[in-house]
Amino acid sequence: MINALRGMKDILFLESKKYLFFLENCSRVAKNYGFEFISTPILEETALFKRSVGESSDIVGKEMYQFIDKGENNVCLRPEGTAGIVRSFIQNKMDKTLGVKRFFYYGPMFRYEKPQKGRFRQFHQFGVESFGVSDVKEDAMVILMLNDILNFFDIKTILKLNSLGCPTCMPHYRTKLVKFLDSLDGLCEDCKRRKDLNPIRVLDCKNERCQNLLSKAPLLLNELCGECKDDFDNLKSILDKFDINYEIDAKLVRGLDYYSKTAFEFVSDDIGAQNSVAGGGRYDRLVEFLDGKPTPAIGFAIGVERILELINIDEDRREGIYIGTLERDGQDLAFRIAATLRKQNKAIVEFEVKGLKNILKNADRANAKYCICIGEDELKNGTLWVKNLDTKENLNIDIKSLGEFQW
Ligand code: HAM
Repeated sequence: MINALRGMKDILFLESKKYLFFLENCSRVAKNYGFEFISTPILEETALFKRSVGESSDIVGKEMYQFIDKGENNVCLRPEGTAGIVRSFIQNKMDKTLGVKRFFYYGPMFRYEKPQKGRFRQFHQFGVESFGVSDVKEDAMVILMLNDILNFFDIKTILKLNSLGCPTCMPHYRTKLVKFLDSLDGLCEDCKRRKDLNPIRVLDCKNERCQNLLSKAPLLLNELCGECKDDFDNLKSILDKFDINYEIDAKLVRGLDYYSKTAFEFVSDDIGAQNSVAGGGRYDRLVEFLDGKPTPAIGFAIGVERILELINIDEDRREGIYIGTLERDGQDLAFRIAATLRKQNKAIVEFEVKGLKNILKNADRANAKYCICIGEDELKNGTLWVKNLDTKENLNIDIKSLGEFQW
């Protein structure tokens, strides 16, 4: 027997219902905020991720599904969505046209991580990316949108917020941090490596000993330049006005190198150690870095598998109409009725002729709300016997008025 690869899984049964429910409603919210759907390839040039997500990140350093294709191209299954969308933004010359461009997307992402609860090698993200607005109101809007999505599904999370500064304040802080890190004895091997590659990543090391050593580390939030500080204060005051609760987490650095200024994560206490449900932030320099015209940008991505754990749907809710036939002659009629009903409703036809008991049993299994059985009487009279499986009520409906009945 061949099984799915480790860390990869099928989405089916209840999870597939939740998945569609989630995508439909996220897409609706994103469209209400003026975002348009975009879909980019799953396979991209490896260089795209090296240059955007960054060589120092675990994603590029250890987790990429990378290979040489038959045309000798060095390619990679996308580990995240932002880089491909920035590539498309530049390739389609959207950086050269005026105006704001806002996109939403969803699909599979691939990271060769150690699988555990909430952490997969193939997982799905729903994300948004907004290009062209440097005003911090855009940051607030994007966070409000994510908050709307979480509220719609009645999900309780904590918003963690930080600012990662800009080219004015970051280099100065970086020097200060490296000096502090150099003075420490006993950092773990990962931290030692990160200190040289991207020192701020040391701050979110999960090792308890490192965290103790880092308790007195200088924090960028105390060293922000005037503009970054004003932006951060404005963002907080907009969130306050909208009653969005947040925690300032000065050690939130995110695992991707392209961020500057606003960085955020929504975390949940209800899904185990992998508690980040969604994350995002500003990446004002990435478009330029990938050879586009400098364009400010911000976005986020939700981890679909993690959020589905937190979504409840009414499994027992019956819907649709199940149509069975007691007589072979009834099958044509069943087909026609189903075609009429499907203009507005879900209708399932049983292809085999069966007894009443079996038809009702199958309708129940299909979780249908109504069951229609076509027998001799129905064929003669032009009326249908219908059972409401919720209320157990029996009805007789004229075939001609099927379309008007409130199913
Ligand atoms: P990220 O924080 O790497 O950000 O991923 C976003 C979300 O994807 C995480 O919060 C988590 O819920 C989910 N996720 C990540 N890795 C896994 C995994 N191995 N298994 C299951 N779920 C996972 C990004 O990817 C950025 N592109 C977000 C962004 C968009 N920033 C700006 N625009």
